[in-house]
Amino acid sequence: MSSASSPRTRIAGVGAYAPEKILTNAALEALVDTTDEWIRERTGIRERHIAADGETTSDMALVAAKRALVAANLEPSDLDMIIVGTVTSDTIFPACAAHLQHKLGAKGIPSFDVSAACAGFMYAMSIGDRFIGSGSHKNILVVGVERLSSVTNWEDRGTCVLFGDGAGAAVLSPSRGDGAGILSTRMHTDGSLTESLLIRAGGSREPTTPELIAGGHTKIKMIGSDIFKHAVRNLTSASLDAVKDAGMELADVDWIIPHQANMRIISQVAARLKVPQEKLVLNIERYGNTSSASIPLAWNEAIQDGRIKPGQTVLACALGGGVSWASALIRM
Ligand code: ACO
Repeated sequence: MSSASSPRTRIAGVGAYAPEKILTNAALEALVDTTDEWIRERTGIRERHIAADGETTSDMALVAAKRALVAANLEPSDLDMIIVGTVTSDTIFPACAAHLQHKLGAKGIPSFDVSAACAGFMYAMSIGDRFIGSGSHKNILVVGVERLSSVTNWEDRGTCVLFGDGAGAAVLSPSRGDGAGILSTRMHTDGSLTESLLIRAGGSREPTTPELIAGGHTKIKMIGSDIFKHAVRNLTSASLDAVKDAGMELADVDWIIPHQANMRIISQVAARLKVPQEKLVLNIERYGNTSSASIPLAWNEAIQDGRIKPGQTVLACALGGGVSWASALIRM
């Protein structure tokens, strides 16, 4: 938990990227036993973007990072740290942040990944906020990026209809003292739920074998109903806590950017918070669940189309595997 009456960190620029290829619900009907109607009614998703063959996680992160740097009017050489939230790095190790740093040409600066699944971007932003706040770093690139299509079991209708690929990034810089910036952040994990959403094989517990690959255990497995319940409860409490930490009321919040995992989760959180649908930034219909890219993709879209304006307050919250969840209140 952290709180701040005056922001230490401002958002200098935001950028995002989604791959060109679109996979529609109709195309999924041909892959698994599902229907466009089921997917739309149960999740709110119509289509999702899928990375091209050979397009890596760091390739997508690079485009989003360059766009965020342009928005911040900075060069890669101005950065002094890179933090990437992802669970689908180009390689199991080194970190996606190392691959991204090399492609950006920002040699030498500390660059590391945070593994918090769908909460990865929120964790990265919260960590970056602490480094800026300590005065040790000036310009930190935080990224949420995921190529979930490479770890999706395309024979499992319970998961393959949900996920998409994409990237989002923000540059964090010291506050200018004008009130704009990160007002509060919250991070939480409940490790008792690790088995409800995971990739079982390929780690130290069960190194990859041909049998595990054949059984689909190198791909995402999820007990959706477990995650659903925790998502509604924890996203609600983390949202309320972030607002309280900043000494504000929910009525003071202009925009809520929820993790775009399932429209029914979002609606239930909004109902519990008693916030009207008009305050929600939504793009789940067109992107599906892009994990850690979800928040910055929606955030960037609402800045680009003029919905989110300077001076407004934005509340973001996300939950994913771990389960890990996080929230942040930001004044633009
Ligand atoms: N098409 C048609 N039927 C389906 C499909 C599908 N794509 N998927 C499941 N079904 C069926 C099930 O088999 C089941 O049938 P049955 O009753 O005959 O057994 C029925 O639909 C209901 O299944 P549920 O799993 O109970 O469906 P639910 O309404 O819970 O929706 C979903 C499933 C969409 C996965 C939901 O539980 C969910 O969104 N969970 C949370 C996901 C999430 O937030 N994940 C966290 C982030 S992901 C990350 O961190 C990488």
